[in-house]
Amino acid sequence: MANNVRPETMERITTPALAQAFIDEQIAEVRAQVGNKKVLLALSGGVDSSVVAALLIKAIGKQLVCVHVNHGLMRKDESENVIKLFQDELDANLIYVDATDRFLDLLAGVSDPEQKRKIIGKEFIEVFADEARKLEGVEFLAQGTIYPDILESIKQAEGKKAVKSHHNVGGLPEDLQFALVEPLKLLFKDEVRVVGEALGLPHAMVYRQPFPGPGLGVRCLGAITRDRLHALREADAILREEFANNGLAEQVWQYFIVVPDIKSVGVKDESRYEGWPAIIRAVNTTDAMSATIEEIPYAVLHKITARITAEVEGINRVLYDLTPKPVGTIEWE
Ligand code: XMP
Repeated sequence: MANNVRPETMERITTPALAQAFIDEQIAEVRAQVGNKKVLLALSGGVDSSVVAALLIKAIGKQLVCVHVNHGLMRKDESENVIKLFQDELDANLIYVDATDRFLDLLAGVSDPEQKRKIIGKEFIEVFADEARKLEGVEFLAQGTIYPDILESIKQAEGKKAVKSHHNVGGLPEDLQFALVEPLKLLFKDEVRVVGEALGLPHAMVYRQPFPGPGLGVRCLGAITRDRLHALREADAILREEFANNGLAEQVWQYFIVVPDIKSVGVKDESRYEGWPAIIRAVNTTDAMSATIEEIPYAVLHKITARITAEVEGINRVLYDLTPKPVGTIEWE
């Protein structure tokens, strides 16, 4: 436990030079820890696992085996981008698993949010474990644990109740026990980003907005269907494109689309057109415990509305959620 406590004397990593010193130190530590053994990493493409991957590629090259599980609930082009960056550009040892059907079949007809989270978390472990069992010589598991995760688990151990089961991905099965490699475990998020940039990861990846583990699964409200999930993914891609084009991507902490399982009557090409509403959520926060609503210029909202209703099959309205947290949580489920 002692090495899970950030020493008071530890300097905050705020500059490329400090990041480089941290990287050099971690490379030496990891090499000493793992020797010539293989290290497994679940690479989601989020900031933390990506920075761990980039660091370990520098430290141990192909001894690192990255597994990217596409649970079918990724944003548009997300898995493709992970493959492009890590396999094509960084020459990582990357196993890509498209488990879309496994996840969506299990989720069919399940509408309870916590049940959905549990299914996604459990299946994720199973898919990952299936891949791990196929490999030989793996003795270590790398994880993108960061200091707030450690602080959060201390809080939970003290019996404080969480509103939602965010960190619901349990441990691996008994037959797959590895020693952990957690090079970022004493860093805060801002430090992880500085380290990521020093490792040469693209700015957009290092500063990307948070994305929940269950992905679009908690934004396609209620029982997920493939057509509504597809509409959500397309609408979300348009929102992100317009936020980027209008300078909002750097200004807003988290922004996304939610598509509820309700239909309203609309009109398209002079005939009745029933469709789902796309709900925009765009919030600012420092710690996700509370959040305020971003005032998006009307012109941008009009453009997003026009594009989504014209380009996305099945959506006939666009709404803007003005609810701060509290009283609404950031995600709808
Ligand atoms: P809420 O909805 O509780 O969200 O206001 C606060 C932050 O946590 C993210 N979030 C999750 N992250 N698994 C995750 O990894 C989850 O199940 C989950 N639910 C919410 C949310 O996107 C926001 O940044």
